[in-house]
Amino acid sequence: MFKKINHIGIAVKNLEESMKFYKDQLGFQFNGTDEVASQKVKVAFFKIGEVNIELVQATSPDSPIAKYLEKNREGIHHICYEVEDINEALKVLKEKGVKLIDNEPRDGAHNTKVAFIHPKASGGVLTEICQPGH
Ligand code: CO
Repeated sequence: MFKKINHIGIAVKNLEESMKFYKDQLGFQFNGTDEVASQKVKVAFFKIGEVNIELVQATSPDSPIAKYLEKNREGIHHICYEVEDINEALKVLKEKGVKLIDNEPRDGAHNTKVAFIHPKASGGVLTEICQPGH
């Protein structure tokens, strides 16, 4: 069901500022920015091997990222596992009694379908699953 780690999400206050480290100093491959209206965030993607680093900045004070940064420092926010079929994955997780934030997939960045597992289910690690768009 799970294929690989798709990305690691990092909460940042200022996308442009934070991008400099990955882009200019580490020289990671930059795969563009995107705005995810459903989550009120703007994201920037960098590819390193098979994995992406996703920098996430809030676009509104009521964004989940803005709320997260009221209580936490900038830093690692979530890990995202890639699945072949997100509907099937959610069905299996529900059957296994895993507490979810999203019972149904929603639109993620770059045409993906995403859903979040509740941190209570995973020892505090906010976990996202995604199905890449085609
Ligand atoms: Co993510």
